[in-house]
Amino acid sequence: APTDNSPAIVVGSGYGGAVAALRLGQAGIRTLVLEMGRLWNTAGADGKVFCSTSAPDRRSMWFRTRTEAPLATFLWLDVVNQAISPYPGVLDRVHYDAMSVYVGRGVGGGSLVNGGMAVTPPRSYFTEQFPSVDADEMYGTWFPRARAMLGVNSVDPAWFESTEWYRFTRTSRKAAANAGLRTTFVPNVYDFGYMQREAAGTAVKSALAGEVIYGNNHGKRSLDQTYLAAALGTGNVTIHTLEKVTSVSRAGDGSYVLTADRIDGTGAVVETKEYGCTYLFLGGGSLGTTELLVRARDTGTLPGLDAAVGAGWGTNGNTMLGRANHVWDTVGAHQATMPVMGIDDWPNADNPVFAEIAPLPMGFEHWVSLYLAITRNPERATFSYDTSSGAVRLGWTAAQSAVSVRMAKKLFDRINAANATIYRYDLFGSGNKVFADDFTYHPLGGCVLGRATDDYGRVKGCPRLYVTDGSLVPGSIGVNPFVTITALAERTMARVLAEDTAP
Ligand code: FDA
Repeated sequence: APTDNSPAIVVGSGYGGAVAALRLGQAGIRTLVLEMGRLWNTAGADGKVFCSTSAPDRRSMWFRTRTEAPLATFLWLDVVNQAISPYPGVLDRVHYDAMSVYVGRGVGGGSLVNGGMAVTPPRSYFTEQFPSVDADEMYGTWFPRARAMLGVNSVDPAWFESTEWYRFTRTSRKAAANAGLRTTFVPNVYDFGYMQREAAGTAVKSALAGEVIYGNNHGKRSLDQTYLAAALGTGNVTIHTLEKVTSVSRAGDGSYVLTADRIDGTGAVVETKEYGCTYLFLGGGSLGTTELLVRARDTGTLPGLDAAVGAGWGTNGNTMLGRANHVWDTVGAHQATMPVMGIDDWPNADNPVFAEIAPLPMGFEHWVSLYLAITRNPERATFSYDTSSGAVRLGWTAAQSAVSVRMAKKLFDRINAANATIYRYDLFGSGNKVFADDFTYHPLGGCVLGRATDDYGRVKGCPRLYVTDGSLVPGSIGVNPFVTITALAERTMARVLAEDTAP
């Protein structure tokens, strides 16, 4: 029997895990959080916790010898990526056959590396994706609670219109307007008051110094400053870092047993631990949680799991692309890294797309408008266990990505036609690639709500086992996903604490 027993264990410390930890701790339940990444609170030799984007070091990526930034090239030159030494860095790129997935590693998960865009989905699309969830309750209670807890705020419109740091956004807005397209401000968890002080020269620059995908040293309200700080404040929550859960099984008395590898800074396994708990919450993200459950089902350690575990995975239709503006339409040498606007063509039933106007801060004028398009791609894939290697594979194909590209192209062909502009061919490798169709920032699904679980994230066939993260979302949510993930986790925890954990 495991020697380390807790009433509750939470795997992972991203959005789903952080909400679970706080609400368990507040309910007086002693809770252990197991996180495979490190705690990002200690400055390196340069005095900074996170490394810069322009000169990345070992802190940038999860056990790599070379960085793998989403924008691989500029003018076809391999100028972006750098050699680094292997280390538990903050950004990981997980490679499957035809798709790779960016995820955050560390206490705070994706909140450490993401663009902070805090978007609530259109109610009609939420209802379509989650027909069994009471939308009045979501929009009346859980979304507002999530936004308040995450510290969501908005850029001051007057400052936005005047600052050089958002010239790139205004230029993209104008190009969209010329095509008759609507743009909309999107809220963010980056503190815009702090950003204005950065611009004024009275605060240390972070979003205005290119920081984002390898972590922000200032300004961003990541989960370690919000939900997780509050969770630790309850006195009932402990976090173990650099511990990766590798298997889950059930003991004869119905409690859960977890095996975890503790690694050091080189990735070597220094100890293999066994943990026991009564209540188990999975917040390892779409990839982490689904991998654990697919392996548990197919190796027989949790034989009761449903056939729907592993299914319903999608990329949220992600496609990245760049356009070349005319010389008089400058985007500015100075660009803030936090996006604040999207092109909202989601209501267009013929071709629904929501495209984030993304920064490309290179420190010089390059006339590029960059976008992360979220398309309504209906394609889904399934994770499967490979008996011979023990690996969990993802069945996503290049043809499924092509669906996202067609939808993004339809929108941006319109914008190019209206502005007499063209795409950029030099940003995504040497092959004159216009659309980055081989990676996603928004992995969703794998343990879909109401299919692999009941309507509250209770895993079918496994009493007192719960999923609280992005794997509940059926492959698409039409906007950047973390507000939805957080709100669903709040809804799950309220129900579980009211009904399941009473003595
Ligand atoms: P999340 O991935 O956040 O957390 C999972 C945690 O579990 C990680 O810390 C991981 O290390 C850990 N873990 C996994 N398996 C484990 C195991 N076996 N044992 C121990 N620990 C384990 N979204 C948005 O809404 N707005 C935005 O602007 C952006 N921008 C953006 C940019 C970039 C570069 C990325 C990579 C992502 C975004 N996103 C985003 C997406 C957003 O960050 C993502 O949807 C959420 O982080 C997902 O939250 P989860 O709780 O599902 O998992």
